[in-house]
Amino acid sequence: MQTIKTILPLKQKIAALKQSGKSIGFVPTMGALHQGHLELMRQAKAENDILVVSIFVNPIQFNNPADLEKYPRTLDQDKQLLQSVNCDLLFAPDVKEMYPTPDKTVYHFGKLATVMEGAFRPGHFNGVAVVVKKLFEIVSPDKAYFGEKDFQQLAIIQLLVKQQKLSVTIIPCPTIREADGLAMSSRNMRLTPEERAIAPEIHKILQKTVSLRNVLSPNEMEQYAKKAFNKIQAFDLEYVSVADDTELQPIEHWNDVRGARIFVALQLGNVRLIDNVRIF
Ligand code: PAF
Repeated sequence: MQTIKTILPLKQKIAALKQSGKSIGFVPTMGALHQGHLELMRQAKAENDILVVSIFVNPIQFNNPADLEKYPRTLDQDKQLLQSVNCDLLFAPDVKEMYPTPDKTVYHFGKLATVMEGAFRPGHFNGVAVVVKKLFEIVSPDKAYFGEKDFQQLAIIQLLVKQQKLSVTIIPCPTIREADGLAMSSRNMRLTPEERAIAPEIHKILQKTVSLRNVLSPNEMEQYAKKAFNKIQAFDLEYVSVADDTELQPIEHWNDVRGARIFVALQLGNVRLIDNVRIF
């Protein structure tokens, strides 16, 4: 695996690989890699000739400075994990390389960006879109892989690709969970042992709620889940939403939609966790 920290040599390397007919699979990350990331990488490696991974903790997608500061950074361990999935190229730029001057681009994602994470983390999706667009320009991937745990991010990136007419294919990948159901996330490593023990309740409550889909209306499902989350003292609930799976808008009646998911965000101690489960 070759590690490249600057844009120009990476672009040159990738141009040469493309010239010789190689396809490029890309997994953008912020590091602190876990099995969820590695699954994306295994799939990318299996479906492409070359696997490119980026590790960049993107400051402009953090609306909370403390969250940015506490975000885990584990580059040496990440490199070992990348070797284990036969990553070919690691792009690990610093902030100056990515943003020599502040990037003021403003994207418009309509109502997709006004709900859930968009409502609770102002500016977050614009920051994600800025960095992902830049990374796509640098890496020119044929396919890029994103996990469904960040389902709204995935939808935003699909819209970005459509709006900007980018030539990359976005591949959505299922959420990878620990044996006890907790969705894998870089943030999990910041949970205390007590918090880690309670965290699997998130998935349990979502699953139990989803099992009631034939007897509850969308609103009743939300109320049921809210009550269950609020019963657990350690959880500080931000939102629960039963939403359609394309525009992620709240659902009034089941017959209005073809696909639905339930989404949650909550604070557990100092760690903000999100998860979502398919309803149908
Ligand atoms: O999901 C993430 O890790 C980040 O939001 C991403 C897509 C790498 C952009 O910084």
